[in-house]
Amino acid sequence: MIRVSNLTKEFFQGQEKTKVLKGVNLHVKEGEFVAIMGPSGSGKSTLLQLLDGLDLPTSGDIQINQQLLNNMNEKERTIFRRRHLGFVFQNYQLLPTLTVEENIAFPLYADRKINKEHEKTITNLITAVGLKGIEKKSANLLSGGQQQRVAIARALVNHPSVLLADEPTGNLDRAIAEEILRLLLMFNRKQHQTIVMVTHDIFAAGFADRIILFRDGVIEKIIARKDEDYAEYMANFMA
Ligand SMILES: Nc1ncnc2c1ncn2[C@@H]1O[C@H](COP(=O)(O)OP(=O)(O)OP(=O)(O)O)[C@@H](O)[C@H]1O
Ligand SMILES: [Mg+2]
Repeated sequence: MIRVSNLTKEFFQGQEKTKVLKGVNLHVKEGEFVAIMGPSGSGKSTLLQLLDGLDLPTSGDIQINQQLLNNMNEKERTIFRRRHLGFVFQNYQLLPTLTVEENIAFPLYADRKINKEHEKTITNLITAVGLKGIEKKSANLLSGGQQQRVAIARALVNHPSVLLADEPTGNLDRAIAEEILRLLLMFNRKQHQTIVMVTHDIFAAGFADRIILFRDGVIEKIIARKDEDYAEYMANFMA
């Protein structure tokens, strides 16, 4: 589903050049749930933004659903993002004056009118994320956990090939974070939703099939649930 090869990203501030990604190679299969962990500043959000087509790499290829993102022009990338990618932010980023339902439907307005099929998708998503009964409530009246449920439903409304999430539980306390992680896992297991999630929290990363450890712009290690040393590795991490 995702193929990243020899990816690099440099930022310029005046004459000063910062190499943030230094050759990342990654393959994420359809239906996989992958977590990316690593120290602050190691390039996790930069990688996620490149996967989301928000920015272009300095070199290397990003292929999502067999389409090469880095060869698209800006307009093509915008359309690709809208149709094939869903993004969940740490701070939810809902439109505060719109209702739950309107926020979830929002990505659909950009492209076309909402038809019966879309309405069904929205209703199903509201039920799936546990917001039935408050669909007419204004987003600014919701708790953090509820807002993130709306944001997840919004990110899934276009049936994206990949759901990208940058610290989706970073602003939530442990119990609510767990609810959100279980929700992501449910979409992954039941609908084979491919998910790439950045997190600082080893507890959150434990929900994924594979954990990618990032350091200083490169992948340092990949640890899979099915690896023999997985349990030992996780225990050490938490110690
Ligand atoms: N637009 C930009 N211009 C210049 N430098 C940038 C830009 N975006 C990111 N950087 C730099 O790239 C490096 C990696 O940033 P990034 O946000 O990807 O890290 P991160 O791993 O997500 O960190 P955190 O865990 O704190 O969120 C940082 O040194 C940051 O200052
Ligand atoms: Mg980040």
